[in-house]
Amino acid sequence: MRHLLNPLDFSVEETYELLDLASDIEKNPEKYSHVCAGKKLATLFYEPSTRTRLSFEAAMLNLGGSVLGFSSADSSSAAKGESVSDTVRVISCYADIIAMRHNKEGAPLVASHHATIPVINAGDGGHQHPTQTLTDLLTIRSLKGRLDTLTIGLCGDLKFGRTVHSLIEAMIRYPHVKFVLISPQELRVPSYIREDVLEAHNIPYEEVDNLDLAMPKLDILYMTRVQKERFFNEEDYIRLKDSYILDKKKMELAKADMFVLHPLPRVNEISTEVDADPRAAYFRQAQYGVYVRMALIMTLLGVKKPC
Ligand code: CP
Repeated sequence: MRHLLNPLDFSVEETYELLDLASDIEKNPEKYSHVCAGKKLATLFYEPSTRTRLSFEAAMLNLGGSVLGFSSADSSSAAKGESVSDTVRVISCYADIIAMRHNKEGAPLVASHHATIPVINAGDGGHQHPTQTLTDLLTIRSLKGRLDTLTIGLCGDLKFGRTVHSLIEAMIRYPHVKFVLISPQELRVPSYIREDVLEAHNIPYEEVDNLDLAMPKLDILYMTRVQKERFFNEEDYIRLKDSYILDKKKMELAKADMFVLHPLPRVNEISTEVDADPRAAYFRQAQYGVYVRMALIMTLLGVKKPC
């Protein structure tokens, strides 16, 4: 039995297989419409979500399976003090696979030790968000035709942004990838990403605070939200929240074939006037999230690709 807790749980080869399956699902959705008939996905979301939870549910329904679960800790027995380990022991009796989001780093790992069914980390605190990373990889490969030889700009809250941490760890496995890390000083990537991931693997990167100067270099611009829920005090959040606002004027500085990604939700960091730009790919990215989660559910359940 396999779980997905970290974006590196799948090798580069396995990740390509998963992305190939997701691309085939995109092209031939009807072929996959019954492959998970009789299977159930449990979505255990202790933290708010729109895309991740609903795209997981859409994914399982598209595969012919069923879904059950809860969308907040308050609506589950966690509110009465039940532990994650007890909850997943019980859910293992009701479902075939679990997708879990939790505000505590490592909660899905704990769940994987006690569940008797596969556990997928759907985001744990400021740590990892591996299915967002798979979504990002599928989006980048679909739009650019490759995962190597790219200059990727990551902009915004790089300190608390789990999608950023997961994407960096995943992308360093492809050759000739460079990073431009664009953030205010206070929101720079944690030292373990800088030292243990980027520097340990000799990955070229620069840390800058000026988005305009970075724009012309980029093949991908990955915008992120400054996350109010991760700040310890409101003053810091208010001071930093509008550090970067991508607008039409900034887009004029970018290459014609650069794409803008964002895991969403956005607040102010991308002006809605950018949405009409063909390089704005964040809503397409949300659609890719369904295909990749369909491929992931099939893979972890050991469902064979239909002929
Ligand atoms: N990208 C993402 O994780 O969105 P949600 O918080 O809406 O799930």
